[in-house]
Amino acid sequence: MAYPIPLVAAGAGEPWPPELVRAPTARSRRLADMCGIVGYVGRAADGKALDVVLEGLARLEYRGYDSAGVALLDGDHVETRKKSGKLANLRADIEAHPLPASATGIGHTRWATHGGPTDENAHPHRGGEDGRLALIHNGIIENFHALKGELLASGVRFTSETDTEVVAHLLAAAYDEVGDLTEAMRGVVSGLAGAFTLLAIHADQPGVVVGARRNSPLVVGLGDGATYLGSDVAAFIGHTRRALELGQDQIVTITPEGATITDFDGTPAQGRAYEVTWDAAAAEKGGYATFMEKEIHDQPHAVRDTLLGRTDSDGRLVLDELRISEEQLRSIERIVVVACGTAAYAGMTAKYAIEHWTRIPVEVALAHEFRYSDPVVGARTLVVSISQSGETMDTLMAVKHARELGAMTISVCNTHGSTIPRESDAVLYTHAGPEIAVASTKAFLAQITACYVLGLYLAQLRGGSYADDAQSVMKELGEVPDKIEALLGRMDRVHEIARFMADTRSVLFLGRHVGYPVAMEGALKLKELAYIHAEGFAAGELKHGPIALIEPGQPVFVVVPSPTSEHGLHGKVVSNIQEIRARGARTLVIAEDGDDDVVPFADEVIRIPATAPLLAPLLAVVPLQVFALWLSTAKGLDVDQPRNLAKSVTVE
Ligand code: AGP
Repeated sequence: MAYPIPLVAAGAGEPWPPELVRAPTARSRRLADMCGIVGYVGRAADGKALDVVLEGLARLEYRGYDSAGVALLDGDHVETRKKSGKLANLRADIEAHPLPASATGIGHTRWATHGGPTDENAHPHRGGEDGRLALIHNGIIENFHALKGELLASGVRFTSETDTEVVAHLLAAAYDEVGDLTEAMRGVVSGLAGAFTLLAIHADQPGVVVGARRNSPLVVGLGDGATYLGSDVAAFIGHTRRALELGQDQIVTITPEGATITDFDGTPAQGRAYEVTWDAAAAEKGGYATFMEKEIHDQPHAVRDTLLGRTDSDGRLVLDELRISEEQLRSIERIVVVACGTAAYAGMTAKYAIEHWTRIPVEVALAHEFRYSDPVVGARTLVVSISQSGETMDTLMAVKHARELGAMTISVCNTHGSTIPRESDAVLYTHAGPEIAVASTKAFLAQITACYVLGLYLAQLRGGSYADDAQSVMKELGEVPDKIEALLGRMDRVHEIARFMADTRSVLFLGRHVGYPVAMEGALKLKELAYIHAEGFAAGELKHGPIALIEPGQPVFVVVPSPTSEHGLHGKVVSNIQEIRARGARTLVIAEDGDDDVVPFADEVIRIPATAPLLAPLLAVVPLQVFALWLSTAKGLDVDQPRNLAKSVTVE
């Protein structure tokens, strides 16, 4: 078959030009999470596909562990095996029922986004009546509902609830038309919306794996007589360090000789070649030293993916996973948010926005207090639980109690199929991907984002002054990921401040309005990561007591509202900074670009991009996360697994 461009043949050991051997950059490191993807093609007789794919999946399992599966080309047919649960379940099944040796294979570990973590929903998915095609997918196909409707109408039978199976059937149909997997992929991807990395094999084309990517990473590994694909280099780092990173909207065809890359429109393209300088352990963290650092840098992705698929073609909000009738939602008279820790601070932040947009009173209760406070809730109360793990016992007990009292319950959760969503009337999933570090970062931003989407949806549904503004606010929310990305590129000074303050014994955090929960979250990060006494206050509370804590040299972070905030909040906080500076505090001020009012009273000014005041927490918290990370690192502490803490608190 004639390839559009010369194969990028695997270099037989000649040195790569130095400019191509580069350390990981923020771009090359930033990885979509959600699922682990591996592809392999070796020379016909090598029979290594299963071992290579399973090894790659093991290195990627931290990216998703709801289920795992493999597909292999075996002569003239495709063998697939997939199991829910951890990779060990799949390995045990293969141990009991061996798969054939093969030189071509793909594999997948899943972080569920559409459809629960079951065997049927596990990838790979087969396409077509004859099942001669297998497909794996990372991401979210936003328009899968419409595509599935067309396929069902044409008589296609589905075996899963996933968006991926829709693509598998489309690809099989396209292959039957054109007789070439690369061209079939080209025909299908142009009709997909959302974020995706796709890998496919077909029984008619042994020795070939075809991949495609949009808004979700895919890297090629170039070996000697073998070629690899992965959602990140961890998939193949045990076999080669020679990598090609694909760009947006590109298709790659790999054979044992190398890789051919084109744009979706068929234009020949070259991947970004580089040599991986990370070791295998670092590769799992995307080249970062800790999962927390990786997850902080993945926050633009977490916010972007949580926003994906929330509006229809007219820009109106659609929350099709919300299983509460519009009539019931219109009847809500009060909202109570129940959560713990960082999730509770996400709820406190969302309170300001949801009340502003919907005029529904919102109360935020710590779940463990709510459960035993003899709460006043009823049929017209909406109880919104927020939980990354979906397993926090305090929050689960609060949800159960709320339901016993007749309240409607919605779970904002990051873990598909976990207990709290199952115990709720409805769920709004965040799409932050697996959060491994105990200290929550990207889940926090995704929780705020999801709560804002819920608030805007309620405003749109119930009418009133903000019904029309929902779309413009969603547009502003859509601009936040790029602002976070830009902000992450200018954290060097925060890193220096953290190193300089490694021996500090107490830090205070001040904020007003939506900045108040940000101050609380900044204090919590420092407590749990650096084991330092840290306390967050509402800035207006200072003169009612806490100002007595101020003494010369006391470090105080101050989260300053946007100068465009209403009610003169900005000026009030600048006055607070003056008050503490006059008493010797060391003021570390987080302020918008261009806000010069703070400069005369700040020992340090940490700038964040300007944004709508209600969206500012999605930016203001980032320097506080980075500060806690680097201060913990400077103290030589375990950033990902701080003492005394667990990622999910499953006891009351
Ligand atoms: C945050 O950094 C902590 N890990 C902790 O406060 C956490 O947010 C809290 O335990 C709630 O966990 P959940 O979101 O899984 O329910």
